[in-house]
Amino acid sequence: AIGFYPAFVSAPVVIDDEQTGFDKELVIKFSHVVAENTPKGLAAQEFARLVKEKTNNQVKVEVFPNGVLYNEPDEVEALMHGKVQMIAPSFSNISEQVPAWQVFDLPYAFLSNEAVQEAFNGEIGRMLYQKLESKNMVGLAYWGNGFKQMTSNRGPLIHPSDFKGQRFRILPSQVIEAQFRQFDAKTTAIPFNDVYRGFESGIADGGENTISNIYTKRFYQVQKFMTLSNHGYLGYGVLMNKDYWDHLPDVLKQQIRAALEETSRWANQNAVQMNEQQLEEIRQRSTIQIHVQTSSERAEWMEALNPIYSQFQRIIGKELIDRIRELQK
Ligand code: LMR
Repeated sequence: AIGFYPAFVSAPVVIDDEQTGFDKELVIKFSHVVAENTPKGLAAQEFARLVKEKTNNQVKVEVFPNGVLYNEPDEVEALMHGKVQMIAPSFSNISEQVPAWQVFDLPYAFLSNEAVQEAFNGEIGRMLYQKLESKNMVGLAYWGNGFKQMTSNRGPLIHPSDFKGQRFRILPSQVIEAQFRQFDAKTTAIPFNDVYRGFESGIADGGENTISNIYTKRFYQVQKFMTLSNHGYLGYGVLMNKDYWDHLPDVLKQQIRAALEETSRWANQNAVQMNEQQLEEIRQRSTIQIHVQTSSERAEWMEALNPIYSQFQRIIGKELIDRIRELQK
């Protein structure tokens, strides 16, 4: 048996090589910022259930939702330093440490859910995982949330010129900042769990988010207009602290991977349905004015935002951008 000190326990944990298990329950703290009734919230719970089942109660995943443990943007640093074992931050939050992850933030990067899945499961997904390792993080899965929609208090957002002078809440992503700059709008970075107050107090006029986040955090109560623009994609890298992962016995690694594979297959389908259902809820419960972007308006936005691809080629890397372009064909 080998003893070692994982970052989160003060007593040595003894690994029994024969049974490949620990002599006591191992706890993985999984922190995230969204509500429980969301694609990520439900995926985290399902993952916890499957890990318990597959490891025969040897590993317990403790899920902390709503940013109660760490809010954006602190969770990524907390993971890197082993203060928490698992997180599933949105791509933009990862990009602060690994700028290439902004490839997913490119405007209209994905034109369908199928393209999103292709990126997650193909070379783009693999390349982005690799870039995490030098930051002491391991990428284990991709969970989608959905396409982002624009909201505002100041007026309907139909044409690029409608954004002029308005201030939008953004995630810490240079690509997203550039997107609003292309539209002559101003930006302010606000952590997710402060966004409601940001809209209410007028610090931000508007924002972009998925239906699921707009619904579960009730942004529709403090925003008057929403354009169903699907102009960007919000999803998550499911990450573990690398030191922690490297010290896990192979059997547990396999069981955790199997739990994640099963979770991700389900979660990526469930996310699409949840966003559809929650849009209906918003329509029924609120007075927010909803505009569905037409194809000619979409063409207008795409043209205005197109320069961002070449502006960010150096930061993101040509190969990743070329692969995204391929998916758009
Ligand atoms: C946001 O801050 O808008 C999102 O990253 C929240 C999330 O994790 O879905």
